[in-house]
Amino acid sequence: EKDMESSYLLKGKKVLISAGPTREKIDPVRFFTNHSTGKMGFALAEEAARLGAEVTLVSGPVQLETPRGVYRVNVTSAAEMYDQMLVHYPGKDIVIKSAAVADYRPVQTFDKKLKKQKDQLAVEMERTTDILKELGNKKDKQYLVGFAAETNDVIDYGKTKLVSKNLDAIVINDVTVEGAGFASDTNQVIYLNSRGIEKHLAIASKKNIARKLFELINEDLKDEPK
Ligand code: CTP
Ligand code: CA
Repeated sequence: EKDMESSYLLKGKKVLISAGPTREKIDPVRFFTNHSTGKMGFALAEEAARLGAEVTLVSGPVQLETPRGVYRVNVTSAAEMYDQMLVHYPGKDIVIKSAAVADYRPVQTFDKKLKKQKDQLAVEMERTTDILKELGNKKDKQYLVGFAAETNDVIDYGKTKLVSKNLDAIVINDVTVEGAGFASDTNQVIYLNSRGIEKHLAIASKKNIARKLFELINEDLKDEPK
């Protein structure tokens, strides 16, 4: 009986998740991207659906199957991810931004392949919109959760992002830890919420981490009904 109850932890909840990298085009054959594989975001989407939530997954280009029962929206660039996150944001209960969004994109893009010329090439880049920060500004009833990929001073940087983006919680990934972060099937994270709770989740499969994160989020929602 207890099992039945826990397997429907998110029943009736609407969850929006972003996952994967973005691609910022420079010409028809080249783009800027990062090492994200989408595994953490897809594990979150799969787990949320299993726990009874209605799940929308906005995904950058990844090599992963859509989890069962999940509504998937594919995007390529940071600008497209921003548009789709805004489209699907209203009415959600929990929003988790695990995507690795490019911070910069080329100022100029070319319709024809660039030919090589001099020995050195400088590409001018401009900032993309901080999607999570915009979602923080537009927050209504959503419990908004960000991710932070850090290599040093992880708690301090995580706290700063939690506050500056108006988040309810942040999941900090120390990407220097063996078996955590990009492309790994396992992860080790720190969960911080806006009330100052700090939970260290030991290394485990991304599926198990996802499950624990939803348990923590659910506790926060109970403590602080929105
Ligand atoms: N994020 C976003 N839009 C961007 C950049 C980041 O929504 N243009 C989100 C990520 O999805 C993540 C969170 O912001 O949930 C933190 O991303 P991270 O790269 O760790 O932090 P930044 O704020 O980009 O700062 P920096 O890269 O300088 O550490
Ligand atoms: Ca960044």
